[in-house]
Amino acid sequence: MHEPIPGVRHMPGFLDASAQAALAADIAGVIAAAPLFVSRMPRTGVPMSVRMTNCGSLGWMSDQERGYRYETHHPDTGQPWPAIPPVLLEAWGLLTGYPKPPEACLVNVYDAEARMGLHQDRDETDFDAPILSVSLGADCRFRVGGLKRAGPTVPLILSSGDALVLGGPARLYFHGVDKILPSLTAPLPPPLMGLGARVNLTLRRVS
Ligand code: SIN
Ligand code: FE2
Repeated sequence: MHEPIPGVRHMPGFLDASAQAALAADIAGVIAAAPLFVSRMPRTGVPMSVRMTNCGSLGWMSDQERGYRYETHHPDTGQPWPAIPPVLLEAWGLLTGYPKPPEACLVNVYDAEARMGLHQDRDETDFDAPILSVSLGADCRFRVGGLKRAGPTVPLILSSGDALVLGGPARLYFHGVDKILPSLTAPLPPPLMGLGARVNLTLRRVS
C-alpha cells in the first residue's frame, strides 16, 4: 500500500490477472444489461469524453437540463441498474471497512483520448464513507490534490488491477485523469476489449 497523501491509499495489483478477467466478464454483463451512455455537463451540455453506465441501487449521470445526480433507473432503457458484482462488494468491505454496502458503482470507459478534468465527488449526502476505485486496462496518469481546485496536486499512475481509496481527509479532494497512457502490455481483458482502452469502477455510498 502506498499513501502519497494522507487518506489517499493506492493498492497496486490489488486484483491479479485472473481476478481482473473475472471482473471484466462481470462488467461486460453489466454493460449488456445497462448500455454505455454519454453524460453532458450541466448548463453547457458539453459531452463528457468518457462513456459510462452504472450498477448498484443508484447510478450517477448528468445532462444539460438537470445536471449531476443519482438516478435509480438507466436513462435510455428505463430499467433499474444491474447489481454490483460480488467481487467489488468484497473489495469494498476489505478496503474501506465501512459498515454499510456501497449504493453506486459508476463504470467509466475511457478511449485513448478520453480524460477527466479535476473535480470533487460531492453529489452524495454521506461523506463519511470512502470512495473506492478499481481500474482495468490501460494505465492512466491520475492526479489528486486537496480541497481547492487551484492547489498543488500529485500525479499517480493507475494500472490494471489497482485499487485506490479516497477516505478521511481525502474524501473530498480534487482528482481527475490527465491522460490515458499508451499501453501495449495491459489491453482491457477480452470481454471488454474493443470497448475502449481503460475502465474505471468507482464505488460510493450515496445516502
Ligand atoms: C472518477 O473520478 O470518476 C474516475 C477516476 C478514474 O477514472 O480513475
Ligand atoms: Fe471522481
